[in-house]
Amino acid sequence: MTYKNIIVRREAADKIAVVQLNRPEVLNALNLELMTELIEALEGLDKDAEVNCIVLTGNEKAFAAGADIKEMSGESAVGMLMRDQFEKWNKIRALKKPVVAAVSGFALGGGCELVMLCDIIIASETAKFGQPEINIGVIPGAGGTQRLTRAIGKVRAMELILTGRFIDAEEALRLGLINRILPVEFYLSEALKLAKDIASKPPVAVRLAKESVLKVYDGSLDDGLDFERKNFYLLFATDDMREGMTAFTEKRKPVWTGR
Ligand code: CAA
Repeated sequence: MTYKNIIVRREAADKIAVVQLNRPEVLNALNLELMTELIEALEGLDKDAEVNCIVLTGNEKAFAAGADIKEMSGESAVGMLMRDQFEKWNKIRALKKPVVAAVSGFALGGGCELVMLCDIIIASETAKFGQPEINIGVIPGAGGTQRLTRAIGKVRAMELILTGRFIDAEEALRLGLINRILPVEFYLSEALKLAKDIASKPPVAVRLAKESVLKVYDGSLDDGLDFERKNFYLLFATDDMREGMTAFTEKRKPVWTGR
């Protein structure tokens, strides 16, 4: 399948896929067409038994500079409500397979929100994050007020959302927004390496681990602990759990079957 606004590439031997946002002329601004393609591609990869982990990236200058302002600018409140363009972003949140973001340059507004929908975030030294919507008279609309606050805490999220200030990769790391920083030549290869590592793990356990971690966002701590515990017990029904524990005892490398 070829797309107009994204590029999808598979590395079959390692069971990973790379999805690249590709509207460089507008710093990968996320218009409706791009988001439709992105969600379709991600959902397809999520169902593909030959893919265990996905890398989402942009280019060196921009991961994405936000929702497409020019596309939205003429819309009315009712028009925005009826087209409800950010509702379908929930489909990204619902992906079962882990998504590693490889971020360089701008990750602003919807770009930062898209990064926060990913499970692990690798940044280049040039990455800049922010929710600058306040500067164009709106607020984050695709989860920023919720996810940034959970990621870095109330007072810090409040400052960034109310001022629209950009933070660099160092500050993002210090605040706990991202996992690590690499020189620009290496951020993508590091993300691929990490994705390959995750793709080599037992897929059922990976899926339930992701689901359990994300559960933190859905409800109370008690609900989350309950959910995690049940998923842990459920993994004792898999061959991979038997294999993993047996291999540990026998001091050998496990061989995963995905069952
Ligand atoms: N939407 C549409 N076009 C955008 C865009 C966006 N979010 N961001 C950049 N562009 C376009 C610019 O209009 C420009 O196009 P032209 O050459 O046709 O003029 C091109 O990309 C390059 O941008 P700049 O010339 O502005 O590049 P710069 O290096 O001088 O500045 C920047 C870079 C600081 C990121 C600046 O482009 C900028 O501030 N962009 C907007 C950031 C923003 O406000 N994002 C939030 C959007 S709203 C949102 O995302 C809502 C939500 O919650 C989902």
